Amino acid sequence: MERAEILSLLASIKEKIDVAKDMKELIEVKNSELGKKSKFMSEALESLNQLIRTAPVEEKKALGAFINEVKNDVLSHYENKERVLREEQEKASLLAEQIDISLPGENFYKGHKNPLYLIRDEIISFFTDLGYDVYSGPEIENDHYNFELLNTPKDHPARDMQDSFYIDERTLLRTHTSPVQARTMLKHPNTPVKMIAPGKTFRRDDDDLTHSHQFMQIECLVVDEGINLAHLKSTLEKFMHKIFGPKRTIKFVPSYFPFTEPSFEVNVSCAHCHGKGCNMCKGTGFIEVLGAGMVHPNVLRMCGYDEHRFSGFAFGVGVERLAMLRYGIDDIRRFYQNDVRFLKQFQEEYRK
Ligand code: DAH
Repeated sequence: MERAEILSLLASIKEKIDVAKDMKELIEVKNSELGKKSKFMSEALESLNQLIRTAPVEEKKALGAFINEVKNDVLSHYENKERVLREEQEKASLLAEQIDISLPGENFYKGHKNPLYLIRDEIISFFTDLGYDVYSGPEIENDHYNFELLNTPKDHPARDMQDSFYIDERTLLRTHTSPVQARTMLKHPNTPVKMIAPGKTFRRDDDDLTHSHQFMQIECLVVDEGINLAHLKSTLEKFMHKIFGPKRTIKFVPSYFPFTEPSFEVNVSCAHCHGKGCNMCKGTGFIEVLGAGMVHPNVLRMCGYDEHRFSGFAFGVGVERLAMLRYGIDDIRRFYQNDVRFLKQFQEEYRK
């Protein structure tokens, strides 16, 4: 190959390098134009190498310099182009990955407790601060604990007050948390007890705005020597003040529960009218919140206590009812529906 021909081949390779649009095309040029079998390598350089072998000594030096010049020229041209393409590639990918740091961040909504659990936990800590223990019992309960040990034998008309879900003759979903009283006393006969028992309860109530087939209760039981009605009254007063504020007055209204004697319904003065009578309290000035009484001697005896030595008080409170009265919630089903618009309203209450 003549020098002129070699130089024009060199120029055409450099041109191909120049027009390569990306690394892929550049590598293709490299393989086809500068590979072992390319015209440049196999003919141009080969012919120069042959020439140098046979050239007279005085020409060898100039020929060697020419070969190096040709090789370096094409190589540095290639490397320059490669650098330019890599820089372009990097710029393009940086541009593609660009994030707009002025965009508002993603806001995570922090969850919080359902108002039912807010009030349950508040009640639990109120009583544990007073030294009460917290117990739980099974939700699937035996008739024996749910009724019989609570002085409500088979065919007792008081069973009608708690229409129930039976699983078989003797097994039912507990209708109240009161069986935990019996379970606790039987575990430690003739021993003072101061306990509460929160949990789910079930009744075949017709579902309406204030009733649900499943609801939550908190049971309270205090048994010791010399426990009397004054203890019950002052405990309930403090409890109600804690939940509804210090201005409320409470009233005991005689009632009937088989497991207490005497038995009461506890009414709290209406938050709305402070006892004067309004729509909220149906004109009575008071709202019924829980059932209570002095533990029936039969219950003490059946649960392993000497009823002549020990006496006690007990009460059971519906947690939904307290929450509805405190927060002005109109429908019991709101607690269970997981509607975020409802639940969000208690965010502040939770943070307190
Ligand atoms: N267990 C009763 C109910 O669910 C409430 C109750 C009344 C509980 C009087 C008591 C009590 O402990 O002494 O209707």
